[in-house]
Amino acid sequence: MCGIVGYIGNREAYPVLMKGLHRLEYRGYDSAGVALINTNGQLNVYKAKGKVAELEAFVTDKDVSGSIGIAHTRWATHGEPNQVNAHPHYSESEQLAIIHNGIIENYAVLKEGLMKHGYNFRSTTDTEVLIQLIEYTKHTSQVDLPTAVQLALNQVVGAYAIAVLDRQNPNMIVAARKGSPLVVGVGEGEFFLASDATPIVEYTNKVIYVGDEEVVVLERGKEPSITTITNVKKTPEIQKLELTLNQLEKGGYPHFMLKEIFEQPQTLRTSMKGRVNVDANNIALSGFIDNRERFLNAKRIIITACGTSWHAGLIAMYAIEEFARIPVEVEYSSEFRYRKPVIHKDDVVIAISQSGETADTLAAIQLAKEAGAFIFSICNVVGASIPRISDSGCYTHVGPEIGVASTKAFTAQVTALTMLALCIGREKGTIAKEQYLRILKELDNIPEKISKIFHQNDRIADFAKIFTYAQNFIYLGRGYNHPVALEGALKLKEISYIHAEGYPAAEMKHGPIALISQEMPVVVIAPNCGTYEKIVSNIQEIKAREGKVIAIVTEGDTIVSNMSNFCITVPETEECLTPLLTVIPLQLLAYHIAVAKDRDVDQPRNLAKSVTVE
Ligand code: AGP
Ligand code: GLU
Repeated sequence: MCGIVGYIGNREAYPVLMKGLHRLEYRGYDSAGVALINTNGQLNVYKAKGKVAELEAFVTDKDVSGSIGIAHTRWATHGEPNQVNAHPHYSESEQLAIIHNGIIENYAVLKEGLMKHGYNFRSTTDTEVLIQLIEYTKHTSQVDLPTAVQLALNQVVGAYAIAVLDRQNPNMIVAARKGSPLVVGVGEGEFFLASDATPIVEYTNKVIYVGDEEVVVLERGKEPSITTITNVKKTPEIQKLELTLNQLEKGGYPHFMLKEIFEQPQTLRTSMKGRVNVDANNIALSGFIDNRERFLNAKRIIITACGTSWHAGLIAMYAIEEFARIPVEVEYSSEFRYRKPVIHKDDVVIAISQSGETADTLAAIQLAKEAGAFIFSICNVVGASIPRISDSGCYTHVGPEIGVASTKAFTAQVTALTMLALCIGREKGTIAKEQYLRILKELDNIPEKISKIFHQNDRIADFAKIFTYAQNFIYLGRGYNHPVALEGALKLKEISYIHAEGYPAAEMKHGPIALISQEMPVVVIAPNCGTYEKIVSNIQEIKAREGKVIAIVTEGDTIVSNMSNFCITVPETEECLTPLLTVIPLQLLAYHIAVAKDRDVDQPRNLAKSVTVE
């Protein structure tokens, strides 16, 4: 959600900033803008509604020179997504310019105060209030820009990652963050600034992750300086980036989403590397081993997450309860944080987040931490806010996920959570040794089995075209595959804009069955395990009402495949691992329907990859 880029050094800033904005496009946005200080000391701001390409078209006849600048993609929270509200925002005197990611919650009170002091506002954003406040503070307190930023941020309630330019000082960018992400890239005589490392990796692999309530000053010819907003000096900690440029390219695929779907055999191998050890008959998760007692003594596990990560959490509930016999509650982070939850000191709270930045999940674990619970996180982006404040965790290591619709992160989250369930169960003795060994071996076979499913990709692409007419879809599954039904429906909604609902198959007759007609495609996940027979009856109920059935079945299945209109097979596996296979055809189905409908698959409307506001 929203992208921030900044550059100060010896190069022309504009190309670096634009390339950076393109790299951040995947995060989701509705307008874009750039501010540059040229050699004559002019601070030029250009903005456009829509894509970064529209901004580029807008500036073709403008002066975009200068070796210092900031740029932004906005995902509107306060005020319409239009050119005026796009960032950067000037201060009253147009001497300062700001870009901001987040929400200034007390903007109304601050704005009222500033208006009394004669400040005028051009936009309806909360962000403009902050730059006016910084300018007001700078003038009234007669301080330099870094101090003015510190003082102003002390008055702010909310979340922010900001970067500020001052026309009078073309050698300095001042940036700060609280809640929203911000990374500094340290090059030779140059600095980069961004919401994540993707715009930086091409220039340097040395980064500093800015901490909460920290202000960083990037000045030509000097080392980066970091203080807190209360002016406590911090030592910048330079870390090495593991990201590579290749990971940010489509690698011959038409969309990142398809690339990421096809990467899954490889990403799961990486996620399991050094953890699932078939020869030693062992699963080793260091985050578990180091905190063994906390898990073994837990009376309850609370899982908190949003969207697809929440679906992975639901699957984990089945696995942890089955193998570790610990009660699990799976919470939407946004609900959990506001409903005065009962949290005990011996609870283990597991946060699941691909980005590691989701604002609600971050707030949920802050709350749980204050209540004394042990926080374990399953995240993908290394160094992100959620893993940083967690007590322990497990990275999924699937590389950058650029497609807004999560695919490879989901399968890796499910894998990590399954490994965790097995580790706890093994230590507690609540899983039989043979079963543990069987699942362990089978985990190792999953990547190859996923590759096998890809042989049906062309067929799925063909029959996906038939369903472009559909206004609605229903997805049904039971047990471990109920969350997969929810996930399949979410994928379709997100990228094809077709309304879809996921249900536990047996719930259908308590309401949704009223929707079934010839017009209604029903995707039924029916692998050969657990409640197979029951799901066969559910399919009969759909057929009796002329619904069109698309079934996901185990190879060799004859009963469901004969009853369904379209059938996709997955290899046989352990029941707890079926989601890792059954979700693959659903990802492909959603993808091909969206492509057939000519949708913007990687950047669907209104969506943001990393939801850093509430
Ligand atoms: C998934 O396809 C979504 N785009 C979305 O639901 C996502 O899973 C959710 O916003 C949570 O993100 P996180 O994993 O980065 O916390
Ligand atoms: N709240 C700010 C706005 O609406 C920033 C939004 C963002 O993070 O892009 O302009």
